Amino acid sequence: MTTQTAHAQQPLLRVQDLKIRIRLDNGVMQAVDGVDFEIRQGQTLGLVGESGCGKSLTSRALIGINPKECETTGDITFMSPSESGKPVELLSLNPNGRQIRAIRGRRIAMIFQEPMTAFSPMYTIGNQIMEAILLHRTKNKKEAKKIALEMLSKVGISDQEKRFDQYPHEFSGGMRQRAMISMALSCNPELLIADEPTTALDVTIQAQVLELMKELQQEFGMAILLVTHDLGIIAEMCDEVAVMYLGKIVEQAPVKELFANPKHPYTKGLLKSMPRLGGDRSRRLDSIEGSVPVPIDMPPMCGFYDRCKDRIDGVCNRMAVPATRIADNHTVRCFLYSEPGEANSHVQAHP
Ligand SMILES: Nc1ncnc2c1ncn2[C@@H]1O[C@H](COP(=O)(O)OP(=O)(O)O)[C@@H](O)[C@H]1O
Ligand SMILES: [Mg+2]
Repeated sequence: MTTQTAHAQQPLLRVQDLKIRIRLDNGVMQAVDGVDFEIRQGQTLGLVGESGCGKSLTSRALIGINPKECETTGDITFMSPSESGKPVELLSLNPNGRQIRAIRGRRIAMIFQEPMTAFSPMYTIGNQIMEAILLHRTKNKKEAKKIALEMLSKVGISDQEKRFDQYPHEFSGGMRQRAMISMALSCNPELLIADEPTTALDVTIQAQVLELMKELQQEFGMAILLVTHDLGIIAEMCDEVAVMYLGKIVEQAPVKELFANPKHPYTKGLLKSMPRLGGDRSRRLDSIEGSVPVPIDMPPMCGFYDRCKDRIDGVCNRMAVPATRIADNHTVRCFLYSEPGEANSHVQAHP
């Protein structure tokens, strides 16, 4: 094993028992309910699931940008090698404090489905990328501009000098997405969180932007948390995948293993509803019958029970489902793979 691959296996960010509760008028919604995962240096973890399952809340929790009404508990440990080597507990930091602001944008960057959430319409694209660089990387304006122009060129925007002085509305959707990526990567982050980064783009541009992300990952060596509802994107981009349903990760495995050997009935349903390669990517994952319940005052049971063809009555609707390790790096949360009450094979929430 080369030093580089050994290095690539090191964990960078570990999430343990992440829970997000939102107080609503009609009760408390357990929107994220005990999520565990790990992202390794230079690797891509995919977080996939239908709309509303808690992907965005989970990913925004990592950098503390969920709205105030979200009550978040658990451990988010950032084990960056670049600083003193000491792991940082991100959830214990003041969400507006100096420490998290030094990490957010600088060492963990985020891109979104809609680039207009990242750019202000009031300032030029160039100025906004430069601001990020001046905030985190250098105080020298000339140098910051040079880096910004380089980044615009890296993401395939030609005529950078002219583009630098244009406003977001003067860019096409695909170009805005590229510009947002260049801003996110301008501070050379160790982790990039990409929340449905290509969902709003048409298929050709989508493929180009994904290709670009892969190239930049090769060049900069950052890890990526890729959030998507599209298993096709997961197959193309990711090393590992976590399948999320109703606030929980129901299955997690290396990508090849998950596609070859899916276990959870929900994962199997997702794979069945996956558009064929080259087919219509815009189709939603809607071919699993039934709808997702709202997790308000849910009794302990499997959240997929109502929609599951393999459910075991009196078991799956009576108790919480533990995560079971069924192979190396492959875990599943389903009673088809663990006896109720069986303790040995269960993955512990707090190892
Ligand atoms: N600020 C909020 N107030 C109330 N409900 C919210 C808020 N943010 C998210 N939710 C709800 O939490 C659930 C998970 O949301 P989200 O993480 O955005 O899902 P996803 O990104 O997987 O589509 C959804 O039911 C959503 O409506
Ligand atoms: Mg979302």
